[in-house]
Amino acid sequence: MIGKPLDRVDGRAKVTGAAKYSYEEPVPHVAYGVIVTSAGIAHGRIAALDASRALRAPGVIGVLTHHNAPRVNTDAQRADKKLRLLQDDRVLYDRQPIAVVVANTFERATHAATLVAVSYDRAAAVLDLHDDGAQPYAPARANRQTTDSRRGDPESAFSAARIKVDSVYRIADEFHNPMEPHATVALWDGPRLTLYDASQGVFARRSSVAAILDLPESDVRVVTKFVGGGFGSKGGTQAHVLLAAMAAKVVRRPVKIVLTREQMFHGVGFRPRTEQHVKLGATSDGRLVALSHDVLTRTSTFDEFLEPSALISRMLYAVPNAATTHRLVRTNVGTPTYQRAPGESSGSFALESAMDELAYAAKLDPIELRLRNYAQSDPHTSKPFTSKSLQACYARGAERIGWSRRTAAPRSMRDGGLLIGLGMASATYPTNRSKASASATVHGDGTALVQSGGTDIGTGAYTAFTQLSAEALGLPIEHVRFDLGDTQMPQAPVAGGSQLTASIGSAIVAVGAAMRAKLAGLAVADAASPLHGLGADAVSVANGMLSGGGHSESVAALVQRHGGAVSALADTTVPPAAESPYSAHSFGAQFAEVVVDPDFGTVRLRRLVGAFAAGRILNAKLARSQYLGGMVWGVGMALHEEGRYDNRFGRVMNANLADYLVPVNADIPQLDVVLVDETDDHVNPAGVKGIGEIGIVGMAAAIANAVYHATGVRVRNLPIVPERLLG
Ligand code: MOS
Repeated sequence: MIGKPLDRVDGRAKVTGAAKYSYEEPVPHVAYGVIVTSAGIAHGRIAALDASRALRAPGVIGVLTHHNAPRVNTDAQRADKKLRLLQDDRVLYDRQPIAVVVANTFERATHAATLVAVSYDRAAAVLDLHDDGAQPYAPARANRQTTDSRRGDPESAFSAARIKVDSVYRIADEFHNPMEPHATVALWDGPRLTLYDASQGVFARRSSVAAILDLPESDVRVVTKFVGGGFGSKGGTQAHVLLAAMAAKVVRRPVKIVLTREQMFHGVGFRPRTEQHVKLGATSDGRLVALSHDVLTRTSTFDEFLEPSALISRMLYAVPNAATTHRLVRTNVGTPTYQRAPGESSGSFALESAMDELAYAAKLDPIELRLRNYAQSDPHTSKPFTSKSLQACYARGAERIGWSRRTAAPRSMRDGGLLIGLGMASATYPTNRSKASASATVHGDGTALVQSGGTDIGTGAYTAFTQLSAEALGLPIEHVRFDLGDTQMPQAPVAGGSQLTASIGSAIVAVGAAMRAKLAGLAVADAASPLHGLGADAVSVANGMLSGGGHSESVAALVQRHGGAVSALADTTVPPAAESPYSAHSFGAQFAEVVVDPDFGTVRLRRLVGAFAAGRILNAKLARSQYLGGMVWGVGMALHEEGRYDNRFGRVMNANLADYLVPVNADIPQLDVVLVDETDDHVNPAGVKGIGEIGIVGMAAAIANAVYHATGVRVRNLPIVPERLLG
């Protein structure tokens, strides 16, 4: 059951349209909210805002502005600074929400939104990392780690090193753009609020909404049954969620808000641009002696988010002298947020490009260089890894792409007039886990319902957790239903940080054990059971049967005699990572074969291979799909994605899917995913590491390294567009 490539249990509902996404939730008497955003100004104040024409437009029910919006909780400890919306006349970035028009149809609201008249007083803005007025500062933390790190004496070691790399890498701002835009339906029932919301975590959403609205959490319910992609953008609570709740309160009707595709580029989070300075020093035989990785990136003027790109450099290679730093610049932009493998994906481009540069400088094969610097334990924490199969990933990936045919020199492989290149990079992602709970009820017909309030953001959580639940309960899979996506279910963390399967999976393992113990206890104490009188420990539950001492009976029969339903609940907690004797990461190796036309500077992909080891794989088909998705995102980072700004106004100029390029089918070559077997008995009760994010890590570097191998041109600024190759 575990590991099998089971089809998605929700697949049929999705392809037939029976699956309801948040905006589709049928709510009687619903009204439609459309957000009005600032324009032509990156910083300043609203001088005048006149909603009278909008209010007179057909179908309009109300207009929310900073004049009439409910006041929110501004307690800095509790409330999300991004959500202080419509509270005053300040404008802090382009396309900031400044009003919400509510009408009885979406079209009427959209039209009336164009009738809101606004004038501004403009102030000076900071828009780039190096603008006048940009003042880099050190944030307090880099995720759960320190902002900076240091071991040994990297400056002296770098000075003395025989071989050196000293390079700066840049990545453009990137936007998530899931196919399902952000959407929320808000309903009030007296003091109680229900949100049908496209979210990555219903409990996290409930906490932030309750805090900003100063409500008890018990008065807020959040439901998310299906999500059309998140990639991090639906982890945090974005503006429309609060605006829908406020608008519904003011107009005394349920209100739904969905963002336009253009609005998906503004004020709803993005991966912030990075400038990364990497220095590597090595001995003449390619052993690293010094590493430094300094990251400069940006946040908003009013809130803080850090893309922690240097974390990967702390732990990936065995280098005795290493220092990393993260610095932020406050710019007039909406607050950035997590985007697929935040930190590792951007950081791996810098580190793994620098390693490729070092391989050429040391005249070593790039895989051999990495093997010479293989970290047997975590060099940052000095702890052993729960498991690490990176050597096998290198070997299996290299074999699959045909690495042995690669000739070392740049421009040495050709196909007619075209240049061929092979490149590779390492991948890693930390294994995260948060406390989670799960409930299970077994019925008298032998079926079971298992619940935990996580979300399935398209990853296949419904399916993987159904498989795991069946195994944990000892029931046939066709008798088990797993449900999620509601704060009325047991608590679960956000589907982010690749942690959901480890977190809920561990709770399912625990509730399964609790249920089997309970059933065994009932059986041995029940005079009507053939297992009566045995020790409970002697009874096992598998495939719907209780067995022990040569006797057996069905779970269904036992449960029928005990009220027709037996329930169990399990809460799991997770000690802080600092207290664990282990360091937990998944690992992988990415490979790219590219074809470059030297006349036009165009890069085509011929083949991509990713080999990954991430502990126990619950469903090979879903896992492969997760990895493929990550790799395709890596193609976007390498070759396509680039937020382009009008620096007079801080406006994203390519705020649509025609001008902001993402990979399409024609860009994607044969993709191979190699699932490297790995058993991990230390990582968590479910034995799984995260697989949601590692698929993107290293892919941009593998492609950039292949482009260098093909052309001899080292592109250190992403994306690799033709003009950067033609130089
Ligand atoms: Mo993921 S970027 O942690 O949702």
